[in-house]
Amino acid sequence: MPDPVALVPLDRLGTMLPTGVMTPLGEIMVALMKGSPVAFPARCPHKEESLRHAVLMEDRIICPHHHYEFLFPDGTCRNARRCGNLVIETLEVRDGHCYIRVDALNRVVRGH
Ligand code: FES
Repeated sequence: MPDPVALVPLDRLGTMLPTGVMTPLGEIMVALMKGSPVAFPARCPHKEESLRHAVLMEDRIICPHHHYEFLFPDGTCRNARRCGNLVIETLEVRDGHCYIRVDALNRVVRGH
């Protein structure tokens, strides 16, 4: 596996909904948050439900299932008594394409 791992063209990233990307280690979500390309897990740390339809606000990612909110950039859960934080990793951009380092990809896929 190359390091970093190529993901998607920057112009494919949304600011309202994440894009699911299958990597060699598993599926992750990618999106633009405050103009920065980021990756986060495909499953919510609360009950492992899919984040494919998560809502992106300027400073938070909202899970569609129980509406827990994870703050950008550190993934702090605003409902922390019931849930861990969401791993959020900033992506590298080269020639209009997004890349993620293998160590960061491991954290995103593991969810911690
Ligand atoms: S599964 Fe995401 S908030 Fe419950």
